[in-house]
Amino acid sequence: MPTDFSATRALFDLPEGVIYLDGNSLGPLPRAVPARLQQAAVDEWGQMLITGWNKAGWMDLPTRLGDRIARLIGAEAGHVVLGDTLSIKVYQALASSLEMNPKRRVILSDTGNFPSDLYMAEGLCRTLGPDYSLKTVAPEDVLDAIDESVAVLMITEVDYRTGRRHDMAALTAKAHAVGALAVWDLAHSAGATDVKVAEGKADFAVGCTYKYLNSGPGGPAFIYVAPRHAEVARPALSGWLGHEAPFAFDLNYRPGAGIERMRVGTPPVLQLAALDAALDVWDGVEIADLRARSIELCEAFIKGVEAACPGLELATPRDPAMRGSQVSFRHPEGYAVMQALIARGVIGDFRAPDILRFGFTPLYIGLAEVEGAVKILAEILATNAWDRPEFKTRAKVT
Ligand SMILES: Cc1ncc(COP(=O)(O)O)c(C=O)c1O
Repeated sequence: MPTDFSATRALFDLPEGVIYLDGNSLGPLPRAVPARLQQAAVDEWGQMLITGWNKAGWMDLPTRLGDRIARLIGAEAGHVVLGDTLSIKVYQALASSLEMNPKRRVILSDTGNFPSDLYMAEGLCRTLGPDYSLKTVAPEDVLDAIDESVAVLMITEVDYRTGRRHDMAALTAKAHAVGALAVWDLAHSAGATDVKVAEGKADFAVGCTYKYLNSGPGGPAFIYVAPRHAEVARPALSGWLGHEAPFAFDLNYRPGAGIERMRVGTPPVLQLAALDAALDVWDGVEIADLRARSIELCEAFIKGVEAACPGLELATPRDPAMRGSQVSFRHPEGYAVMQALIARGVIGDFRAPDILRFGFTPLYIGLAEVEGAVKILAEILATNAWDRPEFKTRAKVT
């Protein structure tokens, strides 16, 4: 049965009069989440107190929800676990990869990667010693730059600024051909595109849940370790909950079985409860339908904006196969334009120096919203409504 996107839309609470095109940054509130949070806080924490770890199954949430996410990213069940933030999961995946490729010293990434991934890689290299380095090349040069010096390729599948999508299977195949491992960051692709980590042969994949998976601000991240590495990868962040027997309280670390070893410390139970309810929205969703609908929405937006907004330059690849589920346009006064849009109820966001980003999330966005957003954007540009001092003062979060 094809996915019924009017049914998924009814599962979200969006404010009246708002066109929300920022689910690529923070997903909106699924209707079922407040009740699940109430249950977790009042019935579980409140009544069960510490017995909730066993009685309410809190301790198993990271792997149980990992299995729910596995379906959405084309991963094998039993090989995804939740916890920590994405930056931490990037560090874990990189550290394990470097340890598994001990004769090499280079992490290869691209200049379109999200800064936190690059910063984590830099920090890890500093800790490991002066022989280790992070090399970055332009996104279009990654394939050619993968050579025998590379220990691990670290790529974010969909570029957070431009929406450009890398070819996971092709880049991973080249990495493997030269003896390197591949770590994929799915922050902008999990729940947005037809991600296939098993088919693409990713060695590790990481991602966040507060964007397209709607777990709420600060929701936990996930990590995938390919089954072939599950008992080999050694966690650098060897916390007690990744130990084989946490409650034996041994003095020495022994990694837990498979994906369990990628756990670090106490799981964020309330955020996991929110994610659990948020994932219910996906139960009737076929990823192929989501991808088809996302392409339809992005195409309609590009066509509409290019016809009605002459001052904007498309920053996203025109070929749908080359992009994720967001569309970006450049404008020299992009920040002010976005503030003017938000003031009219169209919420996207801005990324320096000049990018207006719009995320298209078929679960709750349809063609009517696309048309509405184009109309308001065209009015703002035609009337220079953005050219006001209050739209030019930068807030802390853009
Ligand atoms: C591609 C990518 N990697 C890493 C991060 C950092 O994630 P976190 O703040 O959860 O550590 C983000 C945040 O948006 C991201 O988009």
